[in-house]
Amino acid sequence: MSHDLEPLDPAKGAWDTKEMGRRRFLEVTFWSVTSVVTVGVVGSGGRFLVGNSLEPRTANWVQIGKIAELKVGAVNRVNYAMKATDAWREVEQKGALYAYTADGASYTVLDGSCTHLGCIVQWAASENRFRCPCHAAEFTREGEVMSGPPPKALGRLETKIQDGALFARI
Ligand code: FES
Repeated sequence: MSHDLEPLDPAKGAWDTKEMGRRRFLEVTFWSVTSVVTVGVVGSGGRFLVGNSLEPRTANWVQIGKIAELKVGAVNRVNYAMKATDAWREVEQKGALYAYTADGASYTVLDGSCTHLGCIVQWAASENRFRCPCHAAEFTREGEVMSGPPPKALGRLETKIQDGALFARI
């Protein structure tokens, strides 16, 4: 009596190459998504543990100029560069501020960094507005968004007057 197995039907035994391709695709997709999610969770968890230690810790007062020299109604630009300290190192911080007074008694200082991606906005006096050169955003003199992609108004800084000079806190 013979116990030989029946030969396999070649059609049933063949690898389904389409199915293998789909499985491989699903595997790669699964591991890619898992990696991205893991990096995101670990990254945000790490950020939470570190807290705001990556941000500059010290607020700095920047002198804008003598108030006697600030012309009423004019928008004055002040560029600044300074050392700021974060948790473990000194970094150079650069930017531009815009200061004006409508009455010679109260002062407004705006951070010139666009709230979209941080380009420095330019004051267009003839149009009475700020323009961002990067993506054509426009802001009012008060810093409110008129058009373009910025999500919010220009930053308005705390000010003080000391020894006849205007300072802004950045
Ligand atoms: S950086 Fe100003 S509009 Fe994009």
